Amino acid sequence: MTAMAIDTLVWISGASSGIGAALAAAVPLPGAHVVDISRSGGSNAEHLPADLADPSSWAAVEAHVRARVGAFEGRRAVFFHCAGVIDPIGPAGAVDPGAYRRNVLVNAAAPQALGQAFLSAVAGLDLESHLILLSSGAATTVYEGWSAYGAGKAAVEQWVRTVGAEQRRLARGCRVLAVAPGVVDTAMQERVRSADPDAFPAVGKFHDQYAADALRSPEEVARDLWSLLDRDFDSGAVVDLRRLAA
Ligand SMILES: NC(=O)c1ccc[n+]([C@@H]2O[C@H](COP(=O)([O-])OP(=O)(O)OC[C@H]3O[C@@H](n4cnc5c(N)ncnc54)[C@H](OP(=O)(O)O)[C@@H]3O)[C@@H](O)[C@H]2O)c1
Repeated sequence: MTAMAIDTLVWISGASSGIGAALAAAVPLPGAHVVDISRSGGSNAEHLPADLADPSSWAAVEAHVRARVGAFEGRRAVFFHCAGVIDPIGPAGAVDPGAYRRNVLVNAAAPQALGQAFLSAVAGLDLESHLILLSSGAATTVYEGWSAYGAGKAAVEQWVRTVGAEQRRLARGCRVLAVAPGVVDTAMQERVRSADPDAFPAVGKFHDQYAADALRSPEEVARDLWSLLDRDFDSGAVVDLRRLAA
């Protein structure tokens, strides 16, 4: 018996935890090969170890994507960018500077650099391609204590609007989306709830949502994210997953 031919190549940054792990655990496409880009790995996907706070890792990811799509005979390539970090929580000027620099690199710089790497690797190939980057309500709501996180997500959204317009001009452009998933029951939310109210004055809102059982499960969010491949959004759209029609 021959192995099923690979029809879809999938990269998921941050598939070692939370939403990315749920995406990797519930791939709805037969014949998909999934690669997890993270430090820890541990999902059922192939692991490409990378510390995305280290800019030298971005070129390694680019080389990996380019080599795989170059030799690919399937029909679709998908990149979900889920890697993100909330720390350090606290006012700019009062938090650990090294942790702040890492936050800026992971949340603001890596999505743009990896997104551009994916677009460059698939450019001109006869492939259906999707690039989906995780954003957050923090892109537009001011949360004191989350300056680099919120600014990183705002950067993701404007990058997607701009790149989406560029891709719409192309005959076989990539479908590029930014997606805010809502409040999801992951390790990141545990970290949010553990924050000191002096560092993060809005922490009570997140305790209240947890107490009201209002968090979405990573599995439910993963199903919605996979469904985006078949939904009719223009490249460049910023999608609020909570408003997705059933
Ligand atoms: N949970 C929510 O309520 C919520 C709400 C809005 C938006 N989001 C967004 O959704 C995405 C996923 O969040 P989550 O809640 O699933 O978080 P999570 O459970 O904390 O997972 C974060 C993922 O990011 C990866 N990551 C963090 N720093 C990294 C680094 N330096 N290099 C490589 N990978 C790194 C982690 O992998 P390693 O530690 O193995 O490297 C992990 O797989 C994030 O972009 C987040 O901002 C989440």
